[in-house]
Amino acid sequence: MPEVTVRQGGRASPACPRIRSVLGLARFAAFNLPRLARTPHPVAFLRHTLVVRDPDLMSDLQRAALWALACDRRVEGCVVELGAWIGGTTVCLAAASHLVNGGLVYAVDTFAATDPDCEARVGPYGGSTWEAFQRNVQHAGVAPWVRVHRATTTEAARAWQAQRNGPIRLLFIDANHSYASVREDVENWVPYVAQGGIVAWHDHNEAHPGVMRAVAETVASDVVGNPATVPGLLWAYKR
Ligand SMILES: C[S@@+](CC[C@H](N)C(=O)[O-])C[C@H]1O[C@@H](n2cnc3c(N)ncnc32)[C@H](O)[C@@H]1O
Repeated sequence: MPEVTVRQGGRASPACPRIRSVLGLARFAAFNLPRLARTPHPVAFLRHTLVVRDPDLMSDLQRAALWALACDRRVEGCVVELGAWIGGTTVCLAAASHLVNGGLVYAVDTFAATDPDCEARVGPYGGSTWEAFQRNVQHAGVAPWVRVHRATTTEAARAWQAQRNGPIRLLFIDANHSYASVREDVENWVPYVAQGGIVAWHDHNEAHPGVMRAVAETVASDVVGNPATVPGLLWAYKR
């Protein structure tokens, strides 16, 4: 399975998304000041959130929660992201993890929109999000802290142990949202999460019944406990 270190030297994002980011973030800050004050390293959060955002995929509230999870170092280990798309969440995870000396972020994706949701969105990227991912990660300055597995989540899981990457302190699951795929990601990856480490699922909402069902079963099975949520993002702690 190929492991790729993100190239240096991408070009900057266009100005228009930056303006949208500033406006969106100002609105977010206005409505969420108390929450933002509780966010670890709030100034760094705002700075990194302004650099790369993909509001279509992640709300500001979810991004703030993900940032806080990546800053949580109650257990040692690295961060693994299943489903990176154009790097919006990769940047958030890597910036936060670096800030707390929290280890590398391993981003797993085929970058070929390997699920029906993303297939419908990949047209503007010419059928692959690989170039956009590299550009965004580079532009945000987090490339040194990101390792990419350009593979399916199943292939990457098979190779994980042999690579001796150590325990996972935060597993963020956001690849194929079908019930079977989410179950498979849980079965393949949760065993590598350290006891007390975090498992988080994006798109935990009515629009994605497969995610809701797989998460409910995982929580009920007692593999993870103490679930918490903001709309569309649920996380729990490995038992
Ligand atoms: C919803 S997007 C991820 C969004 C990203 N986490 C964010 O919020 O910025 C889902 C991604 O998962 C990838 N994907 C879907 N199924 C996959 C699989 N079985 N293996 C690897 N990647 C997969 C798609 O290529 C797509 O880039």
